[in-house]
Amino acid sequence: MEYKDFDESFSLAGKTALVTGAGSGLGRATAMMFGRKGADLALVDINAAAANETSGLMASYGRKIVCLQCDVANEEDVEKMTADAVAALGRIDILINCAGVGFLDDAENLSMEIWDKTMAVNLRGAFMVAQKVGRRMIGQGGGKIVNFASQGALVALDNHSAYNASKAGMLGLTRTLAYEWARFNIQVNAVSPTVIVTELTDRTWVGETREKFLRSLPAGRFGHPNEVAAAALYLSSDASNLVTGANLVIDGGYTIQ
Ligand SMILES: NC(=O)c1ccc[n+]([C@@H]2O[C@H](COP(=O)([O-])OP(=O)(O)OC[C@H]3O[C@@H](n4cnc5c(N)ncnc54)[C@H](O)[C@@H]3O)[C@@H](O)[C@H]2O)c1
Repeated sequence: MEYKDFDESFSLAGKTALVTGAGSGLGRATAMMFGRKGADLALVDINAAAANETSGLMASYGRKIVCLQCDVANEEDVEKMTADAVAALGRIDILINCAGVGFLDDAENLSMEIWDKTMAVNLRGAFMVAQKVGRRMIGQGGGKIVNFASQGALVALDNHSAYNASKAGMLGLTRTLAYEWARFNIQVNAVSPTVIVTELTDRTWVGETREKFLRSLPAGRFGHPNEVAAAALYLSSDASNLVTGANLVIDGGYTIQ
C-alpha cells in the first residue's frame, strides 16, 4: 500500500468499528473513545444488557451504533453477528478483538473445564471473529485488527497458566494473521496491558496479591482503561498503516525488568 497522509489527531470519522467485549471494561472504554473519534460502531457482547448500557453511555455522541449479542466461542453466533454488523454498518473497517475471560488457579489444580473455556473464548473465539471479519476486509480492500493480549503473554504470573497460554497464543495468531493478510492491506496488531482497573481485575487482583504486584510495577500504579483504548486507537488509525504484527505493551514497565 502506498503511503498516504493521515489525520494526526487519529480521527476515525467515516470509519466503522466492531468491538467484542464492548459491554464492560476495556471494550467499553475503547468503543466509547472510538465513538468520540467519529467511528460508527457494532457493540458485541455475550451480555446483551451490558452492550446496550455502553450504547446508552454514547447516546450524545451522534454515532450510528448497533448492539449485537454473540458468544464469540460459538461459530454460528459469530457468523450471524458478523453478517448483522455488515448489514447495519455497510462494512467493518476496524475489528477490536477484546472479549475475554480470566479464570485463575494454580497449575496443579486447574480443571480442564477452565482450560477449555479459556481457550474457547480468548483464543479460538478471537480467531473465529478475526476470520469472519477478515474475509469481509479482504473483500473490501483492507482493514485493521487489534487483538487484546496481556502482559501475561510475555511473562509468568502466579495462577495464570490457562490465561497466559491463551494470550501467548494470541501473539502468535497476531503475527501470523499480519503476515498472511499484509497482501490484502489488513494490519493486525496486539495490545498487551498490565493490570487495568476493570470488573475483571477487581475480581482477580485482590488482597496481598494486588499489593505485592503493585510494589513490583515500576510505574507504581495500575492502568486506566482509556490508556489501553488510546493504544488501540493508534493501531486502528491510518497513522499506523506501516505497523503490523506488533505487540504494543502498556504495562508501566512491568515486563522490562
Ligand atoms: N483488565 C485488565 O487488567 C486486562 C489486562 C490485560 C488484558 N486484558 C484483556 O482485555 C480484555 C478485556 O478485559 P476487561 O478487563 O475489560 O474484562 P471485563 O470482564 O470487564 O469485560 C469482558 C467483556 O467480555 C464479555 N465476554 C466474556 N465472554 C464472552 C464471550 N464468550 N463472547 C462475547 N463476549 C464475552 C463480557 O461479557 C464482558 O463484557 C480481555 O481479553 C482481557 O483478557 C485485560
